[in-house]
Amino acid sequence: MVFQTNPSVARVLDPPTGETRAWLAQGPAKSALPVIDAAQAVPNYPPADALMAHLSRFVREPESAFYTPIFGVPDLRDALAADMSKTYPAPISADQVAISSGGNHAFCMAVLALAGPGDNIILPEPYYFNHQMWFDMQGIETRALICHEDDGGMVPDLAEAQALIDSRTRAIVLVSPNNPTGTIFSPQQLLAFYELARNNALALIIDETYRDFLPNGASPHALFDQADWGDVFVHLYSFSKVFSLTGYRVGAIVGGGALMEAVGKIADTMTICAPRVGQEAALFGLRELGHWRAAKRDDLLQRLDLLGEAFERTAPRFQLVSRGAFFAYLRHPFAGTSSIDVSRRLFDEESLLTWPGSFFGRNQEDYIRLAFANADAGEIGEMVERLGRAGGI
Ligand SMILES: Cc1ncc(COP(=O)(O)O)c(C=O)c1O
Repeated sequence: MVFQTNPSVARVLDPPTGETRAWLAQGPAKSALPVIDAAQAVPNYPPADALMAHLSRFVREPESAFYTPIFGVPDLRDALAADMSKTYPAPISADQVAISSGGNHAFCMAVLALAGPGDNIILPEPYYFNHQMWFDMQGIETRALICHEDDGGMVPDLAEAQALIDSRTRAIVLVSPNNPTGTIFSPQQLLAFYELARNNALALIIDETYRDFLPNGASPHALFDQADWGDVFVHLYSFSKVFSLTGYRVGAIVGGGALMEAVGKIADTMTICAPRVGQEAALFGLRELGHWRAAKRDDLLQRLDLLGEAFERTAPRFQLVSRGAFFAYLRHPFAGTSSIDVSRRLFDEESLLTWPGSFFGRNQEDYIRLAFANADAGEIGEMVERLGRAGGI
């Protein structure tokens, strides 16, 4: 007899990334060029030297091995609340901040706190596929809100969102700056979604994993200024990208009292606390790495400019539909060809690894995603030239 796994989990498709990882392992079929990996979004630089030196001292202290309070080290909660109060700017207090084991964990907890089997949540498509996978596992229906090409990137329509709401709708999820498209939602767009959520008694969850990479360190939105934000808005954050510590697993969830009460139970049951060493790394980052963070942001923005210039210079038939933070979303020129075939061709013929639009939703066959942040400045022009050759310029 073989035991049965949970059908709700068994039904969920495997993370699609395995397929492109297998291509990488095999190598390109027809190209001898060095591979440029623009697939998964990971910073292509190590953490700051000072951070690593600090941690190597910290791990010698017994405290580094122990549990912390469920919501995290108090100093870290204070430091994040203070950092956010400056960024937004709005008064955010430490008791509205819970430290999580990364941004994905924060998302899973937020959803578990808000919805259950038979409920539905509105998710703009293209989406970050882990979001949709979590809904499937929880028996929550994904209400896909198809984004449209627009001057500002790939954006969802408010009236179409309204039309998806019914009595079982619990939340709307936005990601800004967006993965996979790079689209940065304006404060006005985010406020409009906030009002939609409030008027329909829904939660508005915004995953702001990439908020540190906004141009000029701009404030992402003014939602924390809303008197009732704790009844509507759930903010998710990750320390993974900003301090280049994806393996330390530390993020945050920021919300009002009712949410925090639920999150306390969930966090205690799931993880008891976020990794102690990761929390120390995040705290050191917030206290000591302001300049480093700003320099990395400027560096990434420079790559974004280089990408735009390379598209203008080369004018490949791939169309730059949207870009921001770590990502560019491209409409490919091979109408009728599946996005996975296009990505495969780019890999086999040009040694350029991208992710196909189909990883991010059913209606995304015309697109591919380029995680250009993985490439250094010198490689960006080369990437676009390869796109040009593959698309017959
Ligand atoms: C939108 C978004 N949210 C969350 C995450 C995961 O963040 P973490 O490493 O903190 O779990 C990612 C990682 O790629 C992401 O793109």
